[in-house]
Amino acid sequence: MIDAGNGIDVTKSVSDERILVLDFGSQYAQLIARRVRDQSVYCEIVRHDISAEAIAARNPKGIILSGGPSSVYTDQAPKCDPELFNLGVPVLGICYGMQLVCTNLGGKVDQAQAREYGRARCQIVSHDDLFAGLPAETEVWMSHGDQVTGVSDDFVSLAKTETCPYAGVRHRTLPVFGLQFHPEVTHTLLGGTVLHNFVMSICGCEGAWRLGDFARETIAAVRERVGDDRVICGLSGGVDSSVTAALLYKAIGPQLSCILVDNGLLRKNEKESVVAEFTNHFHTDLHVVDAEDFFLERLAGITDPQEKRTRIGHAFIDCFQAEAKKIKGARFLAQGTLYPDVIESGAAPDGPAATIKTHHNVGGLPEKLGFELIEPLRDLFKDEVRRLGLELGLPEDVVWRHPFPGPGLAVRCLGVVTKERSCILREADAIVVEEIKRAGLYRQTSQAFAVLLPVQSVGVMGDARTYEDAVAVRCVNTDDFMTADWSHLPYEVLAKISTRIINEVRGVNRVCYDISSKPPATIEWE
Ligand code: XMP
Repeated sequence: MIDAGNGIDVTKSVSDERILVLDFGSQYAQLIARRVRDQSVYCEIVRHDISAEAIAARNPKGIILSGGPSSVYTDQAPKCDPELFNLGVPVLGICYGMQLVCTNLGGKVDQAQAREYGRARCQIVSHDDLFAGLPAETEVWMSHGDQVTGVSDDFVSLAKTETCPYAGVRHRTLPVFGLQFHPEVTHTLLGGTVLHNFVMSICGCEGAWRLGDFARETIAAVRERVGDDRVICGLSGGVDSSVTAALLYKAIGPQLSCILVDNGLLRKNEKESVVAEFTNHFHTDLHVVDAEDFFLERLAGITDPQEKRTRIGHAFIDCFQAEAKKIKGARFLAQGTLYPDVIESGAAPDGPAATIKTHHNVGGLPEKLGFELIEPLRDLFKDEVRRLGLELGLPEDVVWRHPFPGPGLAVRCLGVVTKERSCILREADAIVVEEIKRAGLYRQTSQAFAVLLPVQSVGVMGDARTYEDAVAVRCVNTDDFMTADWSHLPYEVLAKISTRIINEVRGVNRVCYDISSKPPATIEWE
């Protein structure tokens, strides 16, 4: 069966090559999965306490035990089913995962003399299997308090560092390996080769998995789960919600209803382009809620950033709820939650990950509305979502659009948010984006926008003194939005942006460029 209009054959069999990552609460579990997918091998993250039977039922080519914040010798430490070592499937334990391997199969784990965090020189003792193709010494990334301090005769040491006698080990008779360092992070210079060796040589994968397979599998799974019911999806104009909606549309077509809440805090022409995309191209049942006045009323006089976010969140729920009630028979709510949102929220259900921060679109809304949640992008990173968007037929300008925060222009309009101030900001922002695009730099930068400051300064225009607003331009480069560097834009581009904003946006007489990195600054100003 070919799904009408999209050319994706949803009956093609699911990739039979898969690697399972057992998650012991590592912040890097998804990164491991992603590095495996970089080898074009499907990778799935599962709970750490999955039974060996359930693992066997998934028929994986390999198993990776992730790192984690616990100590293996404590009572509460998350464990794996020891039977998994007898499945005959290759196992790679990373950091905590390695310590589990060794405690299960004959080794001793203790607190290291000093917690080791950061780069270390690693000497490769054996260049067979896991370390094939590596030089005698290479830089690796360590992040651990405990380490393996002794192994039984069943293990062979493969690598060591100055402070870590067992940086890599292999079992003599079972296809079981352990690494104390993290091959999945880019700071481990040849980590990609190590994972490649495990996935391709040791597990024997061929690497035929493509994102198209993910789309096919997800479409089929959504179709099965939804049945004849209706799904509501909130659209924001951002790439995540657009890809979610496109994916759902491919899966269930007319059973999808989308809601776009225009809070008056969207970018210039955002509403129009979403409406065009989802009515002309995807023909979805799209409900646009014009709620600018409602949001501005809720924000009147508010200057505190957290208070703004809270009020916007509540206003959004109120609008969404009112509109959703008009859609009969809706059972599910789809959200464009990505994996970084999940991991930052520690949201894996009763998983062992430490909570770092709570993200706005995880949790809350569906429970309040009584919907079941569908999050088809929950396992993906941003760049994978973009590739998926292209695969699903979304246009390039939607797929490559810079991220935009849920609370919209309100968190870029420092001080009070009024209609007049948000208009000034929207115009200035459009100029920033236009000039960055014109200079051919949009794809090279991760985010570029204007911020309206709660500051007036003196200027001179013509012969007259002015006392008007100041705008800051923020433009950053980042891979993961966790850390970011300010973009070193050419002076000519900055000059053009500044001249245009001052000439074209009434009420602004000064433009500054933000040259702070994250950390210690954040990307947004509020
Ligand atoms: P910060 O300012 O924390 O931003 O360095 C990191 C990334 O997250 C985006 N951001 C948000 N996105 N709701 C969102 O959907 C929010 O409340 C929010 N706050 C920040 C920000 O634009 C950047 O891409």
